[in-house]
Amino acid sequence: MADMLVRLYNLPPLEPALARAEQEGIVVRRGEPWERRKVLTFVNEQFSESWADEVRLGYARNPISVFVAAEAGEIVGFAAYHTTRLDFFGPEGVREDYRGKGLGAALLLSCLWALHWEGYGYAVIGWAGPVDFYKKCCGATVIEDSEPGVYWSLKRG
Ligand SMILES: CC(C)(COP(=O)(O)OP(=O)(O)OC[C@H]1O[C@@H](n2cnc3c(N)ncnc32)[C@H](O)[C@@H]1OP(=O)(O)O)[C@@H](O)C(=O)NCCC(=O)NCCS
Repeated sequence: MADMLVRLYNLPPLEPALARAEQEGIVVRRGEPWERRKVLTFVNEQFSESWADEVRLGYARNPISVFVAAEAGEIVGFAAYHTTRLDFFGPEGVREDYRGKGLGAALLLSCLWALHWEGYGYAVIGWAGPVDFYKKCCGATVIEDSEPGVYWSLKRG
């Protein structure tokens, strides 16, 4: 899978994405230190151990570079940045029964706006699986010859 590039100076607005989630009764916000274990368990159980490892790194930063989607305190989605590498977005995941409600877009835009406010001009979506999702939600474009890129050791050991 290739990486994708996002122009952080031309992002869609964040507020409508957060409001759409709110209408579903779900809050999308930055992760809090006291729920670190809960979030790591969620990522590990719903996705993978290696994604949990990356998210752990986001929890070592201050401010925490992980956003979560939560319903009445229960984690139903997450997204991280500055984890695989500085200025990289990902990993991200929404629990299967919560997909299609706009949470993936709200989590993605929360991270990208955070990078914008930090002063970055561009961000990289690392090893982008759902390319059309990223094209649609933030106008990302595929970076040529970026595979396996920084993930080369996963293939070559
Ligand atoms: C990719 C993922 C995060 C999307 O989450 P989601 O909450 O279902 O996404 P949203 O509801 O916010 O979708 C936003 C828009 O993108 C579209 N979309 C969602 N997934 C898509 C896909 N795989 N391909 C193309 N479009 C997609 C939706 O139709 C929606 O369009 P709309 O605004 O017109 O309604 C979720 O499917 C997931 O967790 N997948 C498994 C993990 C994964 O692949 N993560 C990415 C790793 S790089």
